[in-house]
Amino acid sequence: MEDLIPVVNRLQDVFNTVGQDQIDLPQIVVVGSQSSGKSSVLENLVGRDFLPRGTGIVTRRPLVLQLVNVPKRKPSRRPQSSETTDTNEGAPASEGDEEFPERAQFLHLPDRQFSDFGEVRLEIQRETERLAGDNKGICHTPIHLKITSPHVLNLTLVDLPGLTKIPVGDQPTDIEMQTRDLVMEYITKPNSVILAVSPANVDLVNSESLKLARDVDPDGRRTLGVVTKIDLMDGGTNALDILTGRVFPLRLGFVGIVNRSQQDTLAAKPIQEALKFEREFFRKEPVYRAIANRCGTSHLSKILNQVLMNHIREKLPDIKTKINALISQTEQELASYGAPALAGQGNPATLFLRLLTQFSNQYNSSIEGNGTDLGT
Ligand code: GDP
Ligand code: NA
Ligand code: MG
Repeated sequence: MEDLIPVVNRLQDVFNTVGQDQIDLPQIVVVGSQSSGKSSVLENLVGRDFLPRGTGIVTRRPLVLQLVNVPKRKPSRRPQSSETTDTNEGAPASEGDEEFPERAQFLHLPDRQFSDFGEVRLEIQRETERLAGDNKGICHTPIHLKITSPHVLNLTLVDLPGLTKIPVGDQPTDIEMQTRDLVMEYITKPNSVILAVSPANVDLVNSESLKLARDVDPDGRRTLGVVTKIDLMDGGTNALDILTGRVFPLRLGFVGIVNRSQQDTLAAKPIQEALKFEREFFRKEPVYRAIANRCGTSHLSKILNQVLMNHIREKLPDIKTKINALISQTEQELASYGAPALAGQGNPATLFLRLLTQFSNQYNSSIEGNGTDLGT
């Protein structure tokens, strides 16, 4: 089953490349009010500094972030042509048994590979300003970014502009409705898992993300609660009741997080140090000690991967039906062109067909391999 996530990711690439939007693939959508810590949570999950973040409105376009896990050491110099589906075939792989380098690639810059994550952040800023202007406006068109690394789990995450009430800068007077509509566009899809971020220093009953999540997922089946800023709670208060599900019922539960503060950002505190601080925070605080293994970024990462897998598993029969329909549709289309001339020449329809078939085969073998597992 694990194998299906990379396939779903590849499929998503193909859909993006050929501009198909016929299947909603499973993804995790991060929702919360402005400055609740959404971008910080994403950075922690990736373990890299690459997102613009800070006080005020910083994220102004959706960012679709595909995390792809690769093994720590390259197995051998065997060519991987059948595995490679993206446009970077010409890029040299690292030689020898060096650690696989982390790499980032934007869909809008197919010929460029990034290994400097400071550059990734600059490119996100540039690309944000290109379409959303430089004065706090937002734009619905997403930026697509893929990060390949041995340090991530396979996940597709979407970072969104924060929910906000009062217009600033070039923002239109209906900015509240606009951000709301944008968020709704992503979370209404039944294939979205909602990561509902709420800061611990604001009363949970006022949480905008939980309100919206409840509208589209009333039974809380695909909503995972994330409580940030646990370190900023008033003395004498704590988040134990929230984290143990006694305040707001969510089937997937709540995970407590401590991100870097604005101060940490100004001081350029390295992310590994921040993650260590977070781990120690939950272990040392007497109220959290008993649940420390269910708190923090590493736990969130594991839960997310699990949730995504269950979600894919649940949605597969439906995806499979649609894929089969698309396969025959694409076959007919190719036949009508006089297929032999086009086949294998990097024609998007041919590539699309090949990937759909591959997906379909992997799906079938996973069913056969885990027959009892998938019984329910
Ligand atoms: P976003 O607008 O929801 O994406 O939020 P950001 O990730 O940009 O964070 C907004 C601000 O809150 C930044 O200055 C962060 O450093 C700060 N922040 C986020 N999470 C935490 C946290 O858990 N603890 C502390 N102390 N500060 C945080
Ligand atoms: Na922010
Ligand atoms: Mg943000």
